[in-house]
Amino acid sequence: MERIFVKPLVTQEILRTRIKELGKQISQDYQGKDLVVVGVLKGAYVFYADLVRAIRLPLHIDFLIAKNRPVKNMPGKTIKVWSELTEKIQKRHVLLVEEIVDSGKTAKLLVEKLLKKKPASVEICTLLSKPENRKVQVPLRYVGFEVPSTYVVGYGLDYQQTYRNLPYLAQIDPAILKEGS
Ligand code: IMP
Ligand code: MG
Repeated sequence: MERIFVKPLVTQEILRTRIKELGKQISQDYQGKDLVVVGVLKGAYVFYADLVRAIRLPLHIDFLIAKNRPVKNMPGKTIKVWSELTEKIQKRHVLLVEEIVDSGKTAKLLVEKLLKKKPASVEICTLLSKPENRKVQVPLRYVGFEVPSTYVVGYGLDYQQTYRNLPYLAQIDPAILKEGS
C-alpha cells in the first residue's frame, strides 16, 4: 500500500482542524433551522461522520449512493444514483455532503434530484474541490480544501475501491494511474 504514495497531501491533524471550523460555520448558519445532512456514498462516509459530529445542532441524517461509471464507446462517465432518501425533505434545509467535487457533474445532478422534492434549501459541503477540472458550474457553500488536478486517495476516497480507510489524504503516484487505466 505505502509503496505507491508520494507524501501525504493533508494530514489527520489538518483535517481535524478544518472540519472543526466547517462544523462551527455550519452550526452558526443553520441555527434554528430544520436540517437534514445528506451524505453521498461511498466516498463521503469518513468526512461525513466527522463533520456531523462537529455540527452542534439537532439534525437528521440521510444518504444517497452515487456511482460514476465509464460508458462503453463513450468518452467520459455516466453518473448513476442507486438509492432514495428515507427522510422527507420538503420545506426542510438540506446540506449535501461530498468528499470531492471534480467536474461538478455529480454534485449538479444530485442537487437537481433533491430540488424536485421542494426542500427549503439545498447547499453543498465538500471536503475537496478541484476547480481546475470543473466542467459544469455548481455553487459550493462550504469547501474544506481546494486541491490541484491530481488524484487523491484516503479518508474515504478510493483508487479502484482501495485506500478508503487510509486515515489521511494522499496523492497517488501518476505512474500507478497509467498502469491501472
Ligand atoms: P465529478 O462528477 O467529476 O465532480 O466527480 C465526482 C466523483 O469523482 C467523486 O465523488 C469521486 O468519486 C470521483 N473523484 C474525482 N476525483 C477524485 C480523486 O482525486 N480521488 C478519488 N475520487 C475522485
Ligand atoms: Mg463522490
